[in-house]
Amino acid sequence: MPVTSSCRICSGTVREFLDFGRQPLSDAFVTPEDLAEEFFFTLAVGICESCTMVQLMEEVPRDRMFHQGYPYLSSGSAVMREHFQAIAKRFLATELTGPDPFIVELGSNDGTMLGVIAESGVRHLGVEPSGGVADLAAAKGVRVRKDFFEEETAADILAGEGPADVVYAANTLCHIPYMESILRGVDTLLAHSGIFVFEDPYFADILERTSFDQIYDEHFFFFTVRSVQEMARRFGFELVDAERLPVHGGEVRYTLARPGTRPVSQAVTDLLAEESAAGITEPATLAGLASRVELIRERLPALLGELRERGERVVGYGATAKSATVTNYCGIGPELVPFVCDTTVGKQGRLTPGAHIPVRSPEAFRDPYPSYALLFAWNHAQEIMEKEKEFREAGGKWILYTPEVRVV
Ligand code: SAH
Ligand code: TYD
Ligand code: ZN
Repeated sequence: MPVTSSCRICSGTVREFLDFGRQPLSDAFVTPEDLAEEFFFTLAVGICESCTMVQLMEEVPRDRMFHQGYPYLSSGSAVMREHFQAIAKRFLATELTGPDPFIVELGSNDGTMLGVIAESGVRHLGVEPSGGVADLAAAKGVRVRKDFFEEETAADILAGEGPADVVYAANTLCHIPYMESILRGVDTLLAHSGIFVFEDPYFADILERTSFDQIYDEHFFFFTVRSVQEMARRFGFELVDAERLPVHGGEVRYTLARPGTRPVSQAVTDLLAEESAAGITEPATLAGLASRVELIRERLPALLGELRERGERVVGYGATAKSATVTNYCGIGPELVPFVCDTTVGKQGRLTPGAHIPVRSPEAFRDPYPSYALLFAWNHAQEIMEKEKEFREAGGKWILYTPEVRVV
């Protein structure tokens, strides 16, 4: 019997096409004392036969992922800081121009985007359930409500602050299975001519790059222009723009508006045509992804095993959420990669989820350089390789595993 579940957007049948088995929570960096309490779930992904939305087969309770100790920081990359500064400036110039404009950000994290808005003096509110990162935003002068955004939160914000001209969410909407409550909430909160802008990993890029490590507990949905257009319609919105973004290995920034209030851009039509021509939701395409992932699962540990035999040192670079899928699915532990370095202080001194590879500071990377670095933060490759030029100059090599296993 094929494994199926019920679509979180349209209640249609979701058919599984990729199964990673039991996996830990990708951002649950553990101390040796709490190893016994590690939480595991079945990580598998499927596609809705009705609305084509790609989604996880099993939902992890949100409080297990997003809490006081949630370690991910938006400010961890210079490229992302610039990215968020650019979108903040764009909103200020084009949307937040009325007498008393108001912008709400869902998943405002450490305030990297809203900090720019706060500096300009424009009324804003971040909605962020993870207390630790919300405190960091507040310390930057950002107004934050420590809460999960949903229908009730939206009604409460509207009552206190009035309607929002812009609701923005980066790498957050795809984290939220209870989409009906979110879109009803946005409908409640958004001014009549306002826009809802969100950006998330693009499923077409995941296919093209075989970036299977984008699949983990927090990434519940994998959007396409087609599935987002249908989702928007279903909840009384219109998809008016779709912009491809180079960040995080390829994303799309979607703009939703109330029907008829904004012209629909040519980009929407073009991307729909591209998706259809590429057959990104065809069973053969999805099966192709599954077999390429299987190949990586064979080749990556084989390469690491060979290097170990030859006595070469390999260090992991970037204790990403994505790396949880790679290490646990491919069976890579401290015997193949003795430690992984990461700039996030909250991850250092802990062990990676499931695979239990110690996380150390970037200083450990240089002390002395290993012969190989396995780049888990491949989405920041340019920034990291530039920063680590001396590693190259010292003869070091990078190991990449998407779209295929290779040494550069
Ligand atoms: N926007 C930031 C952070 C993305 S990480 C960036 O792009 O870098 C996802 C964030 O969404 C986390 O900080 C998490 O706590 C938050 N989040 C999860 N569920 C949410 C919800 N229902 N409402 C608002 N934020 C939520
Ligand atoms: P990222 O790939 O942005 O996201 P995710 O955790 O969702 O997969 O995470 C990048 C990680 O890499 C983050 O923990 C910070 C770390 N990092 C470094 O250690 N050095 C760097 O130069 C950069 C850019 C990131
Ligand atoms: Zn559906």
